Amino acid sequence: MEDRENSGRSYNKLIYQEESAADEQPIYSNQEKQQVSLTAVGPASSFNHYKLLTLSLAVLAAFLLAVDIGLGVYYYHLTDGSLVRDLAGEVAKLQASYNAAIHRREDAKEQLAREIGKQAVTRWELEHQTRRKEDYERVIEKTQIEIATLKSHIPMIKEGCRHCSPGWTFMNSLCYFFPFADTYSSVNWQQARDHCKRQGGDLAIVDSREKHLAITNLIHNYKDPKTWMYQSGFWIGLRDVEEEGRWKWLDGTRLNEGYWNDGEPNNEDNEDCAAVYPRSNPFKAWNDAPCNFNLKWICEKQPWAIG
Ligand code: BGC
Ligand code: CA
Repeated sequence: MEDRENSGRSYNKLIYQEESAADEQPIYSNQEKQQVSLTAVGPASSFNHYKLLTLSLAVLAAFLLAVDIGLGVYYYHLTDGSLVRDLAGEVAKLQASYNAAIHRREDAKEQLAREIGKQAVTRWELEHQTRRKEDYERVIEKTQIEIATLKSHIPMIKEGCRHCSPGWTFMNSLCYFFPFADTYSSVNWQQARDHCKRQGGDLAIVDSREKHLAITNLIHNYKDPKTWMYQSGFWIGLRDVEEEGRWKWLDGTRLNEGYWNDGEPNNEDNEDCAAVYPRSNPFKAWNDAPCNFNLKWICEKQPWAIG
């Protein structure tokens, strides 16, 4: 009560002050003063605003309620209706075909891995076959050379039959024996010489280039690649046993032209006997070797008289 009286008094006071101020300084028109008093501070206008606001809120609430009900009905139709069932069915179908596709992809991957494995085996097989083919080609080439060489020996053997004992070869007007067969084991220089003597000959005296080349050509053709070079030599009738470095043939003649390998003779281990080896360069075919070393040998003897 007291507040309301106070506010009434202040209100009257405000009107009074405004009127008095207007008398002194006429800044506002009467109409403006009336508007200020009606809109800004009148209790009746506030009431109208509240009513309008309440009404608006009520309308908004009703509208939201209607929207809510509408959405509820729509959702009910969605969840309960055939559309959702159809969609769920479609999703299930899609999932199934996706799973099937994944499964097929896994199968295809496994198949690919198997094919790659098979391809690798085929590739290895091909490489292997290619190598075998190359091996065969090499063997064919070697065999053809051997055939040609043996053919070239035929006249020699024919002549050997006419002029030499069985198993001996006729070359450069002399008969030679080569113990190529495996039945002949390697022996030391003296044993080799004894063998030749028992056959009516002696270890070969290779005192001419023709003799040397004929011998090296022959032993080269019978070379066994598996045999170590120093074991594949053949004793010949040449020694420096009487005086180191003075090489003499068995007939007592001094060595004239030697076919020593590089660095030979080197008398490395008291090497007083000479041997010929199947080297690719026939002019580097000789080594001096220890006379007690076991090697094959070459005998020579005079042919039967041609008559
Ligand atoms: C040596 C040669 C020698 C040969 C005899 C090798 O170890 O280096 O100089 O002639 O043995 O077999
Ligand atoms: Ca030597």
